Amino acid sequence: MKHIFHQGSNKEKPTFLLLHGTGGNENDLLPLAKHIDPEASVLSVRGNVSENGMPRFFKRLAEGVFDMEDLKARTEELNEFIGKAAKDHGFDRSNVIAIGYSNGANIAANLLFTYSDALKGAILHHPMVPNRETELPDLAGVPVFISAGTNDPICPSEESTDLESLLKNAGAQVHLHWENYGHQLTMPEVEAAKVWYGQL
Ligand code: MLT
Repeated sequence: MKHIFHQGSNKEKPTFLLLHGTGGNENDLLPLAKHIDPEASVLSVRGNVSENGMPRFFKRLAEGVFDMEDLKARTEELNEFIGKAAKDHGFDRSNVIAIGYSNGANIAANLLFTYSDALKGAILHHPMVPNRETELPDLAGVPVFISAGTNDPICPSEESTDLESLLKNAGAQVHLHWENYGHQLTMPEVEAAKVWYGQL
């Protein structure tokens, strides 16, 4: 997968897996990762799917309606890619924290829904429930930060509260943060994610 890797100054720190929103690319979330922890390593990936030229991490049939077969295949592909990148770039595969926005947060959520050990933790900005038909793996103690907008037309508030419950029922430690905005990624939610990360 097309990606950027930056070795952090402190090898004990996690590697942030950065996953952009629809139409974005691997450069978008680099400043955000630096803001959250300037010493962490960064693996920033570009989605392999193109929707009319807009990169995404999996296909959709309509807005908010996912192609479930493609989501499954792309989630497996991303998980394998993280393993390969860990070997190629020499980072600790067991210390990867995802930071995703929108479509990128959705595939990060699906990594959590599919594997108990794909991610050490996750920061999900404006995610949806990626799959309502699956049983989650054991996510005991996995820290997850979710941020959501009360006026988000793409993610109705039940998407966030349902995702919170599903992850909590699988054992994850979930923090749900609300902003009175829409689907955009706001500075206050990034600050809230930074505070949450600082307490891990
Ligand atoms: C998705 O397709 O993942 C969600 O609708 C979010 C988006 O990318 O617009």
